[in-house]
Amino acid sequence: MNNLKSERVLFLVVLFLTLTVGCNLKEPPESKSAKVEIDREKHRPLFHFSPDSMWMNDPNGMVFYRDTYHLFYQYHPESTVWGPMHWGHAVSKDMINWEHKPVALYPDEHGYIFSGSAVLDVNNTSGLGSAGNPPLVAIYTYHNPVKAEARRADAQTQGIAYSRDGGESWIKYEKNPVLSNPGIRDFRDPKVRWHEATQCWIMTLAVQDHIRFYSSPNLKKWSYESEFGKEQGAHGGVWECPDLFPLKVEDSDEEYWILIVNLNPGGPNGGSGVQYFIGSFDDHRFTSIDKDTRWLDYGPDNYAGVTWSNTGDRTLFLGWMSNWKYANVVPTQRWRSAMTIARELKLHKHGNKLAVYSLPVNELGNITSTVFEKKDFDIHKSFSISDAAKLKLSTFEMDLGIRSVDGFKVVLSNANGNQTEIVFDHRSNRFFIDRSKSGDTSFHKEFGDLAWAPRFSHEKQMDLKLVADVASVELFADEGSTVMTAIYFPDAVFDQVEIVPDSKLSISKLVLNEVR
Ligand code: FRU
Repeated sequence: MNNLKSERVLFLVVLFLTLTVGCNLKEPPESKSAKVEIDREKHRPLFHFSPDSMWMNDPNGMVFYRDTYHLFYQYHPESTVWGPMHWGHAVSKDMINWEHKPVALYPDEHGYIFSGSAVLDVNNTSGLGSAGNPPLVAIYTYHNPVKAEARRADAQTQGIAYSRDGGESWIKYEKNPVLSNPGIRDFRDPKVRWHEATQCWIMTLAVQDHIRFYSSPNLKKWSYESEFGKEQGAHGGVWECPDLFPLKVEDSDEEYWILIVNLNPGGPNGGSGVQYFIGSFDDHRFTSIDKDTRWLDYGPDNYAGVTWSNTGDRTLFLGWMSNWKYANVVPTQRWRSAMTIARELKLHKHGNKLAVYSLPVNELGNITSTVFEKKDFDIHKSFSISDAAKLKLSTFEMDLGIRSVDGFKVVLSNANGNQTEIVFDHRSNRFFIDRSKSGDTSFHKEFGDLAWAPRFSHEKQMDLKLVADVASVELFADEGSTVMTAIYFPDAVFDQVEIVPDSKLSISKLVLNEVR
């Protein structure tokens, strides 16, 4: 995020509106005709979360409480471009179907409400609830635009707010900020979790080019513990939105700690990206097992992703499906940006190699139905799945089992000649996403650039899952060990899906699930 210009004026306007008009969200202006309304809704995803209107970036404060997944998000209710940040709010029973809620947190005298997390303070360590009604506590960054404009290094501090009614309404803690700034410009995005071994809260904070850990008995008083990362991982830009959680190796009792660190710019395909480290956390300090740079997603459009808190044995991840390179100028009108599909993370050991795999949550099955299935067949020239299924398809989940990988591509297209290609090159064992002809690419000179990912697996067989919504495709190969996410803006939805092999492709299964 690097668009902090003119924010002082915007901040004062928002503060004025907040104080005078109260906390009502301004309704988006009425559209003048049905045509205008359709244009304004063009590219709206069907089953990925997008704000009802206006600008959204990072997922924030994700917490599961009383059968409900809460999603807060960076939100500018006055505009479709980034500005004074609020926390928007939505709730879901399954991370797939979402209900919009009123704005949860407004800027105040300490500044805008930047990214952060939320926890259930089950033992009421904060004293902000009661034993019988433990509070939800949000921990977030205050970004003071006046100080930032004056180029002061101490513009970012950490504050907390609490809810005693299950996230419906929030009260800011009266003694904010709870963690002041030591004189470092980028000092933000606290992700907090309860640490059983030390009976303390651990805050993971992104600090410019590294991570700092703080601890607290009560979410109000924080002590510095340690830092990590100045010499590790990718450093093409600022470190942002971290996350720290334990994960057991699948089918084993071996446990590691995973440290997610979002990075902008410097992602694997330029701009924003989400890297992670595998290591141990010895109650005070994180140590990684090696110096490798690992990416949770190689596509251009998965950023600021972190996991839900309070989800027991499941580790559930959601990212913002955009890239700071062009997020402010993508051609949507009434709203801007969507989230990725929610994903479940698992740690796998493949030989000696450890990697975090991600797959869409099973709950996606709540809204899919199988419309086509075919087993054991060869494709010689091409195979049009939409023709075979006799369906025009723009929202689907497809599972492909490939017996012996040769080069191939899956082409999503429309009758206007727009197309996005998902290409596998077997010689280099790489995937590519080519959106150079995907429709409107004019808004950013690099949007049409080829994105690529090394395939993690070297097996002869491959399983490939594609999740396509109106304006995005997500690729999960080999149980989710290689992942790519990309958005696009075709003139009309892609309703044709075709598999084109370089020479011949031997398919063990093809299952097409329509999403409704
Ligand atoms: C990441 C980010 C965070 C910051 C927020 C501001 O996309 O830059 O570091 O808290 O967005 O909206």
